[in-house]
Amino acid sequence: MKGKNIVIVGGSSGIGLALAKKATQAGANVTIASRSSAKLKLASDEIEQPITIYKLDASIEEEVIGFFKELGVIDHLISTIKPTHISQQFVDTEICNHKSAFEAKYWGQYFLALHAIRSNSVSEGIILTSGIAASRGYVGFSGTAAINGAIESLVKSLAVELAPIRVNAVSPGFIERFPNDLARYSAISDLGSNVPLRRLGSNLEAAEGYMYLMKNKYTTGSILTIDGGELCA
Ligand SMILES: NC(=O)c1ccc[n+]([C@@H]2O[C@H](COP(=O)([O-])OP(=O)(O)OC[C@H]3O[C@@H](n4cnc5c(N)ncnc54)[C@H](OP(=O)(O)O)[C@@H]3O)[C@@H](O)[C@H]2O)c1
Repeated sequence: MKGKNIVIVGGSSGIGLALAKKATQAGANVTIASRSSAKLKLASDEIEQPITIYKLDASIEEEVIGFFKELGVIDHLISTIKPTHISQQFVDTEICNHKSAFEAKYWGQYFLALHAIRSNSVSEGIILTSGIAASRGYVGFSGTAAINGAIESLVKSLAVELAPIRVNAVSPGFIERFPNDLARYSAISDLGSNVPLRRLGSNLEAAEGYMYLMKNKYTTGSILTIDGGELCA
Protein backbone atom coordinates (compact mmCIF):
# COMPACT_ATOMS: atom_id res chain seq x y z
CA MET A 1 0.00 0.00 0.00
CA LYS A 2 3.02 2.30 0.41
CA GLY A 3 2.69 5.31 -1.89
CA LYS A 4 -0.66 4.19 -3.33
CA ASN A 5 -3.19 6.96 -3.92
CA ILE A 6 -6.61 5.97 -2.67
CA VAL A 7 -9.92 7.81 -2.39
CA ILE A 8 -12.60 6.76 0.09
CA VAL A 9 -16.00 8.32 -0.58
CA GLY A 10 -17.85 7.92 2.73
CA GLY A 11 -14.54 8.06 4.60
CA SER A 12 -15.68 10.57 7.23
CA SER A 13 -17.15 7.95 9.58
CA GLY A 14 -17.66 4.29 10.39
CA ILE A 15 -16.08 1.67 8.12
CA GLY A 16 -14.69 4.27 5.68
CA LEU A 17 -12.92 6.17 8.46
CA ALA A 18 -11.48 2.92 9.88
CA LEU A 19 -10.19 2.12 6.39
CA ALA A 20 -8.66 5.60 6.05
CA LYS A 21 -6.76 4.97 9.30
CA LYS A 22 -5.57 1.53 8.19
CA ALA A 23 -4.52 2.69 4.73
CA THR A 24 -2.59 5.74 6.00
CA GLN A 25 -0.84 3.52 8.57
CA ALA A 26 0.14 1.24 5.69
CA GLY A 27 1.72 4.20 3.85
CA ALA A 28 -1.03 5.10 1.35
CA ASN A 29 -1.89 8.68 0.37
CA VAL A 30 -5.55 8.95 1.31
CA THR A 31 -8.33 11.33 0.27
CA ILE A 32 -11.66 11.07 2.08
CA ALA A 33 -14.81 12.59 0.63
CA SER A 34 -18.36 13.06 1.93
CA ARG A 35 -21.09 15.72 2.12
CA SER A 36 -20.30 17.31 5.48
CA SER A 37 -17.22 19.54 5.85
CA ALA A 38 -17.57 19.35 9.64
CA LYS A 39 -17.50 15.53 9.63
CA LEU A 40 -14.55 15.52 7.23
CA LYS A 41 -12.60 17.88 9.48
CA LEU A 42 -13.33 15.77 12.59
CA ALA A 43 -12.29 12.64 10.73
CA SER A 44 -9.02 14.14 9.54
CA ASP A 45 -8.26 15.23 13.12
CA GLU A 46 -8.65 11.58 14.20
CA ILE A 47 -6.06 10.36 11.69
CA GLU A 48 -2.44 10.79 12.72
CA GLN A 49 -0.99 11.02 9.20
CA PRO A 50 -1.91 13.93 6.88
CA ILE A 51 -4.83 13.22 4.53
CA THR A 52 -6.80 15.22 1.95
CA ILE A 53 -10.49 15.97 2.47
CA TYR A 54 -13.05 16.79 -0.23
CA LYS A 55 -16.69 17.84 0.15
CA LEU A 56 -18.78 15.76 -2.24
CA ASP A 57 -22.36 14.59 -2.55
CA ALA A 58 -21.97 11.50 -4.73
CA SER A 59 -25.69 11.37 -5.51
CA ILE A 60 -25.28 14.58 -7.58
CA GLU A 61 -23.73 13.57 -10.90
CA GLU A 62 -22.28 17.02 -11.72
CA GLU A 63 -20.42 17.04 -8.39
CA VAL A 64 -18.94 13.63 -9.16
CA ILE A 65 -17.80 14.78 -12.63
CA GLY A 66 -16.16 17.88 -11.08
CA PHE A 67 -14.51 15.74 -8.39
CA PHE A 68 -12.72 13.53 -10.92
CA LYS A 69 -11.67 16.56 -13.00
CA GLU A 70 -9.81 17.92 -9.97
CA LEU A 71 -8.50 14.62 -8.65
CA GLY A 72 -5.91 13.37 -11.15
CA VAL A 73 -5.05 9.67 -11.43
CA ILE A 74 -5.46 7.44 -8.37
CA ASP A 75 -4.80 3.75 -7.75
CA HIS A 76 -8.00 2.75 -5.93
CA LEU A 77 -11.48 4.25 -5.61
CA ILE A 78 -13.55 3.01 -2.68
CA SER A 79 -17.10 3.87 -1.72
CA THR A 80 -18.57 3.29 1.74
CA ILE A 81 -21.55 5.61 1.27
CA LYS A 82 -24.43 4.92 3.64
CA PRO A 83 -27.75 6.64 3.06
CA THR A 84 -30.12 7.76 5.76
CA HIS A 85 -32.64 4.94 5.51
CA ILE A 86 -35.47 4.15 7.87
CA SER A 87 -36.36 0.46 8.11
CA GLN A 88 -39.97 -0.05 7.12
CA GLN A 89 -42.09 -3.11 6.53
CA PHE A 90 -42.83 -3.48 2.82
CA VAL A 91 -46.56 -2.89 3.21
CA ASP A 92 -45.92 0.40 5.06
CA THR A 93 -43.21 1.64 2.69
CA GLU A 94 -42.96 5.37 2.11
CA ILE A 95 -41.65 5.30 -1.44
CA CYS A 96 -39.75 8.60 -1.05
CA ASN A 97 -37.73 7.02 1.77
CA HIS A 98 -36.56 4.13 -0.41
CA LYS A 99 -36.01 6.35 -3.45
CA SER A 100 -33.75 8.77 -1.57
CA ALA A 101 -31.72 5.85 -0.19
CA PHE A 102 -31.39 4.49 -3.75
CA GLU A 103 -30.25 7.93 -4.95
CA ALA A 104 -27.40 7.97 -2.44
CA LYS A 105 -26.22 4.38 -2.16
CA TYR A 106 -26.99 2.97 -5.62
CA TRP A 107 -26.78 6.02 -7.90
CA GLY A 108 -24.01 7.59 -5.82
CA GLN A 109 -21.81 4.51 -6.27
CA TYR A 110 -22.87 4.18 -9.92
CA PHE A 111 -21.86 7.79 -10.69
CA LEU A 112 -18.54 7.30 -8.90
CA ALA A 113 -17.69 4.18 -10.91
CA LEU A 114 -18.91 5.65 -14.21
CA HIS A 115 -17.08 8.96 -14.02
CA ALA A 116 -13.93 7.44 -12.55
CA ILE A 117 -13.73 5.31 -15.69
CA ARG A 118 -14.83 7.98 -18.17
CA SER A 119 -12.18 10.36 -16.83
CA ASN A 120 -9.48 7.63 -16.73
CA SER A 121 -8.95 8.47 -13.07
CA VAL A 122 -8.50 4.94 -11.68
CA SER A 123 -5.52 2.78 -12.57
CA GLU A 124 -6.05 -0.35 -10.43
CA GLY A 125 -9.47 -0.90 -8.95
CA ILE A 126 -12.85 0.16 -7.64
CA ILE A 127 -14.41 -1.26 -4.48
CA LEU A 128 -18.09 -0.61 -3.74
CA THR A 129 -20.11 -1.56 -0.67
CA SER A 130 -23.26 -3.66 -0.48
CA GLY A 131 -24.44 -5.47 2.67
CA ILE A 132 -25.77 -8.89 3.67
CA ALA A 133 -29.41 -7.82 3.34
CA ALA A 134 -28.80 -8.52 -0.38
CA SER A 135 -28.57 -12.22 0.44
CA ARG A 136 -31.19 -13.00 3.08
CA GLY A 137 -34.48 -11.56 4.25
CA TYR A 138 -34.93 -9.37 7.33
CA VAL A 139 -38.26 -7.82 8.24
CA GLY A 140 -38.18 -4.11 7.39
CA PHE A 141 -35.13 -4.35 5.14
CA SER A 142 -36.67 -4.81 1.67
CA GLY A 143 -35.43 -1.42 0.47
CA THR A 144 -31.91 -2.01 1.77
CA ALA A 145 -31.95 -5.50 0.25
CA ALA A 146 -32.88 -4.15 -3.18
CA ILE A 147 -30.15 -1.49 -3.12
CA ASN A 148 -27.47 -3.94 -1.99
CA GLY A 149 -28.56 -6.52 -4.55
CA ALA A 150 -28.38 -3.91 -7.31
CA ILE A 151 -24.84 -2.97 -6.26
CA GLU A 152 -23.70 -6.60 -6.30
CA SER A 153 -25.14 -7.19 -9.79
CA LEU A 154 -23.50 -3.99 -11.03
CA VAL A 155 -20.11 -5.06 -9.63
CA LYS A 156 -20.19 -8.39 -11.46
CA SER A 157 -21.01 -6.75 -14.81
CA LEU A 158 -18.39 -4.04 -14.36
CA ALA A 159 -15.74 -6.63 -13.51
CA VAL A 160 -16.27 -8.16 -16.95
CA GLU A 161 -16.56 -4.89 -18.89
CA LEU A 162 -13.82 -2.89 -17.22
CA ALA A 163 -11.03 -5.49 -16.85
CA PRO A 164 -8.10 -5.12 -16.32
CA ILE A 165 -9.47 -2.49 -13.90
CA ARG A 166 -10.68 -4.67 -11.00
CA VAL A 167 -14.15 -4.10 -9.57
CA ASN A 168 -15.16 -5.70 -6.26
CA ALA A 169 -17.49 -5.11 -3.32
CA VAL A 170 -17.42 -5.63 0.41
CA SER A 171 -20.67 -6.90 1.93
CA PRO A 172 -20.63 -6.16 5.65
CA GLY A 173 -22.83 -7.94 8.14
CA PHE A 174 -23.92 -6.16 11.31
CA ILE A 175 -21.18 -3.82 12.54
CA GLU A 176 -21.01 -2.21 15.98
CA ARG A 177 -21.30 1.58 16.24
CA PHE A 178 -18.89 1.55 19.20
CA PRO A 179 -17.05 -1.20 21.12
CA ASN A 180 -19.32 -3.64 22.96
CA ASP A 181 -22.49 -2.27 21.31
CA LEU A 182 -24.89 -4.61 23.14
CA ALA A 183 -27.97 -2.55 22.25
CA ARG A 184 -27.39 -3.08 18.52
CA TYR A 185 -26.57 -6.74 19.05
CA SER A 186 -29.85 -7.20 20.88
CA ALA A 187 -31.77 -5.24 18.20
CA ILE A 188 -30.42 -7.38 15.37
CA SER A 189 -31.15 -10.58 17.33
CA ASP A 190 -34.77 -9.40 17.50
CA LEU A 191 -34.69 -9.17 13.68
CA GLY A 192 -33.91 -12.89 13.49
CA SER A 193 -30.15 -12.48 13.17
CA ASN A 194 -28.13 -15.39 14.53
CA VAL A 195 -24.40 -14.61 14.28
CA PRO A 196 -22.33 -17.80 14.82
CA LEU A 197 -19.46 -15.72 16.23
CA ARG A 198 -21.94 -14.33 18.81
CA ARG A 199 -20.96 -10.68 18.41
CA LEU A 200 -21.09 -7.77 15.99
CA GLY A 201 -18.15 -6.95 13.76
CA SER A 202 -15.98 -3.88 14.24
CA ASN A 203 -15.35 -1.11 11.71
CA LEU A 204 -11.70 -2.18 11.60
CA GLU A 205 -12.63 -5.79 10.81
CA ALA A 206 -14.82 -4.59 7.94
CA ALA A 207 -12.05 -2.23 6.76
CA GLU A 208 -9.67 -5.23 6.48
CA GLY A 209 -11.85 -6.48 3.62
CA TYR A 210 -11.14 -3.41 1.47
CA MET A 211 -7.43 -3.68 2.26
CA TYR A 212 -7.47 -7.30 1.08
CA LEU A 213 -9.31 -6.48 -2.14
CA MET A 214 -6.88 -3.65 -2.90
CA LYS A 215 -3.86 -5.90 -2.31
CA ASN A 216 -5.00 -9.12 -4.04
CA LYS A 217 -4.55 -8.49 -7.74
CA TYR A 218 -6.43 -11.64 -8.78
CA THR A 219 -9.74 -10.47 -7.32
CA THR A 220 -12.41 -8.98 -9.54
CA GLY A 221 -16.18 -9.41 -9.47
CA SER A 222 -15.83 -10.64 -5.88
CA ILE A 223 -18.35 -9.85 -3.17
CA LEU A 224 -16.41 -10.22 0.07
CA THR A 225 -18.77 -10.99 2.94
CA ILE A 226 -17.63 -10.03 6.44
CA ASP A 227 -20.51 -11.07 8.69
CA GLY A 228 -19.35 -13.35 11.52
CA GLY A 229 -20.99 -16.26 9.68
CA GLU A 230 -24.49 -14.72 9.66
CA LEU A 231 -25.30 -15.89 6.13
CA CYS A 232 -24.42 -19.49 6.99
CA ALA A 233 -26.63 -19.69 10.08
N1 LIG B 1 -22.61 -0.61 9.70
C1 LIG B 1 -23.28 -1.73 9.38
O1 LIG B 1 -23.78 -2.48 10.23
C2 LIG B 1 -23.46 -2.08 7.93
C3 LIG B 1 -24.12 -3.28 7.57
C4 LIG B 1 -24.29 -3.59 6.23
C5 LIG B 1 -23.83 -2.72 5.26
N2 LIG B 1 -23.21 -1.57 5.62
C6 LIG B 1 -22.75 -0.67 4.57
O2 LIG B 1 -21.39 -0.31 4.81
C7 LIG B 1 -21.18 1.04 4.35
C8 LIG B 1 -20.57 1.87 5.46
O3 LIG B 1 -21.46 1.85 6.55
P1 LIG B 1 -21.12 2.65 7.91
O4 LIG B 1 -21.94 2.05 8.97
O5 LIG B 1 -19.64 2.76 8.07
O6 LIG B 1 -21.74 4.07 7.54
P2 LIG B 1 -21.57 5.51 8.23
O7 LIG B 1 -20.73 5.45 9.45
O8 LIG B 1 -22.95 6.08 8.35
O9 LIG B 1 -20.76 6.31 7.11
C9 LIG B 1 -21.36 6.59 5.90
C10 LIG B 1 -20.51 7.60 5.16
O10 LIG B 1 -21.18 7.93 3.93
C11 LIG B 1 -21.13 9.34 3.75
N3 LIG B 1 -22.22 9.68 2.84
C12 LIG B 1 -23.56 9.46 3.00
N4 LIG B 1 -24.22 9.89 1.92
C13 LIG B 1 -23.29 10.38 1.05
C14 LIG B 1 -23.37 10.97 -0.24
N5 LIG B 1 -24.53 11.15 -0.87
N6 LIG B 1 -22.21 11.37 -0.84
C15 LIG B 1 -21.01 11.20 -0.21
N7 LIG B 1 -20.89 10.65 1.01
C16 LIG B 1 -22.02 10.25 1.64
C17 LIG B 1 -21.24 9.89 5.18
O11 LIG B 1 -20.74 11.21 5.35
P3 LIG B 1 -21.64 12.54 5.17
O12 LIG B 1 -22.81 12.42 6.08
O13 LIG B 1 -20.68 13.64 5.52
O14 LIG B 1 -22.01 12.59 3.73
C18 LIG B 1 -20.29 8.93 5.90
O15 LIG B 1 -18.94 9.31 5.69
C19 LIG B 1 -22.54 1.53 3.84
O16 LIG B 1 -22.66 1.31 2.47
C20 LIG B 1 -23.52 0.64 4.59
O17 LIG B 1 -24.78 0.54 3.96
C21 LIG B 1 -23.01 -1.22 6.92
